[in-house]
Amino acid sequence: MNIPKIELHLHIEGAAPPAFIRGLAQEKGVSLDGVFNEDGSYRFESFNQFLSVYEAACTVLTGPEEFGRLTTAVLEQSIEQGVIYTEAFLSPDFCGGGDVGAWREYMHAMQEASAKLPQIEMRGIITCIRHFGPDQAKTAAKCAAETAGDFITGFGMGGDEMRGKQGDFAYSFDMAREAGLRLTTHAGEWGGAESVWQAVRDLGVERIGHGVQSIDDPRLVDHLAEHEIVLEVCPGSNVALAVYPDWHSHPIEKLRERGVKVTVSTDDPPFFHTNLGAEYDLLGHHFGWDDEIVRDVNITAANAAFCDDATRKNLLKKLEPAS
Ligand code: ADE
Ligand code: ZN
Repeated sequence: MNIPKIELHLHIEGAAPPAFIRGLAQEKGVSLDGVFNEDGSYRFESFNQFLSVYEAACTVLTGPEEFGRLTTAVLEQSIEQGVIYTEAFLSPDFCGGGDVGAWREYMHAMQEASAKLPQIEMRGIITCIRHFGPDQAKTAAKCAAETAGDFITGFGMGGDEMRGKQGDFAYSFDMAREAGLRLTTHAGEWGGAESVWQAVRDLGVERIGHGVQSIDDPRLVDHLAEHEIVLEVCPGSNVALAVYPDWHSHPIEKLRERGVKVTVSTDDPPFFHTNLGAEYDLLGHHFGWDDEIVRDVNITAANAAFCDDATRKNLLKKLEPAS
């Protein structure tokens, strides 16, 4: 399939190839005990272990230069999958610890790396980390507000959805909104439909990271469809982390059939042994997605992208079928 792809949900650190992280660990003489399996892949057996391994891998990403190199490696992988536009979650917590001056340097390194690859367009969504708590989130929001612009276009939240409530982070989301940033948050990956209601009601987000557990509440499904709230669905991630036991039980197709605007992303592809091409192959295999559906889903993603109208127009043009 050579339909260009648009990815809206990709954590930059989570997209680090394990060999890239191992290489940095070697350069720095750091040992990363417990991070890798014998075959070299990332090692975890539960969501909490995944978060710990993720944070341990981040310890070798020590400066702007490392994040510049990481950005190049990640975007090259995406280009190979036919991705023409990607939104990456960027966390000031891993990039200078929330200090605005330090964050600017990390951001410039990533922006510069992205500008060297004209095959793909990148935007950054600054992400606070839920299990670091609402006070730490404010430092991420401040970095976001201070650097909002052509490259940083959104604000969001990842991390452990079972800690606290979405509304505990309203101050940070309000700060980001006032700075002109577009909003998304992880919800309904682990916290059920109630977490998605909270995200919509208490944070006023226009997109939801995952959101798949909305399927358990028919009123919520109607609400999402009616208000055109877009889901950033990552089916391979959900299956790898056992949110659903297998692809067959994943609700993406039911949500789509009910009129919810779904898009497809990979979340943290090397952790889940996936890439965007593989996700679409499996959607074809399990749910019969053909080229028309794939094109439609990518048009939905282009329309929901946190980018300027000229960029959006350009993406939509590239998605037109060749005549
Ligand atoms: N950070 C990276 N991947 C994540 C996921 N799937 N859920 C929550 N936080 C994350
Ligand atoms: Zn995610």
